[in-house]
Amino acid sequence: MSTRVIDLTGDDLGMAPHSYAFYELRELRHGEDATLRLAEEPAILMKSLEIQLRRGIHWEVTEAGPPVWTVSVKRRDDVAAADLIDLLTRDHLRIDKLFANALHLTNANKIEEALPYFREYAEALRRHVSLEDEILAPRLDLPRSPAGDDPTSIMVREHEQILEQTVMMEELIDEGLGDAGMLAPFFAMLSGQLAKHEYREEENLFPHWKRLIHNMEGEEDELFRIARERIGEVR
Ligand SMILES: [Fe+2]
Ligand SMILES: [Fe+2]
Repeated sequence: MSTRVIDLTGDDLGMAPHSYAFYELRELRHGEDATLRLAEEPAILMKSLEIQLRRGIHWEVTEAGPPVWTVSVKRRDDVAAADLIDLLTRDHLRIDKLFANALHLTNANKIEEALPYFREYAEALRRHVSLEDEILAPRLDLPRSPAGDDPTSIMVREHEQILEQTVMMEELIDEGLGDAGMLAPFFAMLSGQLAKHEYREEENLFPHWKRLIHNMEGEEDELFRIARERIGEVR
């Protein structure tokens, strides 16, 4: 395995260390790893790079300074999911990618090529939603409000809407009405819905789940195991 060394300790980088690291890490290939050398504590820099790189990297501090810190970085898809929330977040990305492929091919009027991606998206979505609705929500039981504006109720409601839209598209396709012109507006609508839903879950629900799991003896490993059985390893 090759290692890319990114040394941020010098002052001759030609740009801000943050930008330099970003451009280098963006080029990281499968199977390659990078070693970052820094003159300061790396957590803030790494977290912001993680966001900029759309959570595509996995990093750990391998040497804690001062004077020099080193961080080992790999592509996230080269490393197995670390825990339940990591697995769910990766599964969001997988579902997004399948959907985006179907959407782009439909927009390019290549409906025959788009359909396998759409079918795979629908399958992955159902597995993901059933895990969240049937297993995780009951076992990671958060307070619900009668108005239905708590994170769990919002999740369940949005799942229903997303599944409904997906079924509608499947029916159009099965009835032979699914030409590109017909499907494109559905794709556009669902694409926005999916993105918002996943964002809300990751921001408003997963932090609560994470906190709950940590306080439940043995539950974390058990739920992680069940989740991997349901949706598979997600790279
Ligand atoms: Fe969800
Ligand atoms: Fe989810």
